[in-house]
Amino acid sequence: MKSKKRMVEVNNLNVKFGEKHVVHDVHFNVNQGEIIGLFGISGAGKTTIVRVLTCQIDKKNWTGNVKVTNLSPAKKSNHSRILSKIGYVPQLELLNLYFDLSPMVNVGIFTSTYGMKKKMAKEVAKKLFKILDIPKDTWNKPVKHMSGGEKKRLSMAIGLIHNPNVLFLDEPTTGVDASKRYDILTYLKKLNQRLNITMFIITHDLEAALICDKAAILKDGRLLEFDTPQNLISSLPSYGLVARFTIENLNEKIIDNIREFKPVQTILRSGNEIIEILMDGFDENISNLIQYMINNKIEIISMSKDIASFRRFFQIRIQKEEEKEANLKLV
Ligand SMILES: Nc1ncnc2c1ncn2[C@@H]1O[C@H](COP(=O)(O)OP(=O)(O)O)[C@@H](O)[C@H]1O
Ligand SMILES: [Mg+2]
Repeated sequence: MKSKKRMVEVNNLNVKFGEKHVVHDVHFNVNQGEIIGLFGISGAGKTTIVRVLTCQIDKKNWTGNVKVTNLSPAKKSNHSRILSKIGYVPQLELLNLYFDLSPMVNVGIFTSTYGMKKKMAKEVAKKLFKILDIPKDTWNKPVKHMSGGEKKRLSMAIGLIHNPNVLFLDEPTTGVDASKRYDILTYLKKLNQRLNITMFIITHDLEAALICDKAAILKDGRLLEFDTPQNLISSLPSYGLVARFTIENLNEKIIDNIREFKPVQTILRSGNEIIEILMDGFDENISNLIQYMINNKIEIISMSKDIASFRRFFQIRIQKEEEKEANLKLV
């Protein structure tokens, strides 16, 4: 059983760099063992929030009530205690691995900064290397000879070497081969389950939602959503049911025409001839929608029913926010 200990608390967090207000009234809570995905396009404020949590932003730049493992990063005197309880895996392995040294020598260097005993460090390293399938014959050879995926996993092991309560990962799947991205996500889930460790994953890889217990969606420094990916998808019309149509000679005029069918809430174009439609009362209205399309001489090639992915939710939510902003500018 996962315990429900509070690991991170963020209330009314505001961050300013001079006149630039980059994080606005953000609040969320995270319990032990949860995986949190921080999603948002570049510049949304993801890294800035994590930098506050990891004691990297001077208190003069932020206000709010923040606690990490029950300690406030607002107090400089708490920093070393917080840092001993959290781990950080940077986007580039270069930043936390010495490529000319072996994995085991890297472990020695990092653990000595935490005052860990050599024997203990080696034991923990072996355990982590095994969970992460880092091959034994690489342990004592220079890191530079390891594959990209192995380096990434080693970087994760180094972030965990001092047995932290919370692990922060900045873009863990960015720059990784498409075929290896799922591997990384699977390893993160495995670590989370084996170690009951709380994780923050900063990412613009929307597939990462697959392993997240909660997703935070940020835009322009504001938190738009913080909930389970499942709840977010279910908040869409008809709990996220999607009608996907392939339509001959699809164009904007046809899309506008379909939009006039009243129950239709959102139309997304997901291919040259493909649209995805969300609507109210899906089951009652789907046959009427098809009839409406036939009456309007819209040529349906194929149709299928599906549930919206997190990617779709994200797209729709950001689109809605942009429409809201555009309307505000008009008045
Ligand atoms: N030290 C800083 N000084 C001034 N502006 C900054 C600083 N750090 C971040 N910003 C600005 O804050 C905004 C959010 O950045 P960031 O947190 O890095 O976004 P993300 O990680 O979501 O891409 C950006 O507009 C960025 O330019
Ligand atoms: Mg960033």
